[in-house]
Amino acid sequence: MTEQSAPIRIVDPTVGPKAEVPQAQSHTRATEPVTMPVELKINGKQYQLALDPRTTLLDALREHVLLTGTKKGCDHGQCGACTVHVNGRRVNACLCFAANHEGDEITTIEGIGNSQSLHAMQAAFVECDGYQCGYCTSGQIMSAVALLDEPVGPSNADVREAMSGNLCRCGAYQNIVAAIQIVRGKA
Ligand code: FES
Ligand code: FES
Repeated sequence: MTEQSAPIRIVDPTVGPKAEVPQAQSHTRATEPVTMPVELKINGKQYQLALDPRTTLLDALREHVLLTGTKKGCDHGQCGACTVHVNGRRVNACLCFAANHEGDEITTIEGIGNSQSLHAMQAAFVECDGYQCGYCTSGQIMSAVALLDEPVGPSNADVREAMSGNLCRCGAYQNIVAAIQIVRGKA
């Protein structure tokens, strides 16, 4: 005669040996990938993407559109390395859901100039050595370009304040401010 295996009983030690805790049901649906269609306009070009609704604009740019000029520093809105323009205004792409930006004009560092035709701000950063390792530089330049259309005072201190959301671990701040002031005609 074969013995039948007894059902598994899980006892919660905090409430005594007689209480039984139901076993967790297996929810296979929770592990299935869920995507939604998202259409983004980036640097004047339309992209049809299938994204997890939680995908940030930063991850959509880097991982799905493969525009890797926009950098991921902190991924928490604290460093500015991910700065892009949405409808002409600077935003931290790590703090935005990509799906919220259908119909918006998104501009990345790849959209403002290239090695054959630099944006004036890119040229000024080169002229002033406004970078060392370069990791923060695309975010710095995107912030600096947006700053040109913002009500920022004329002094270096005004520029430093307006650029305070963009951190540079290499400490190239003095040269970054110099580059921006050249483009503003305040040098
Ligand atoms: Fe977005 Fe740091 S990566 S603010
Ligand atoms: Fe290295 Fe800014 S140039 S972090």
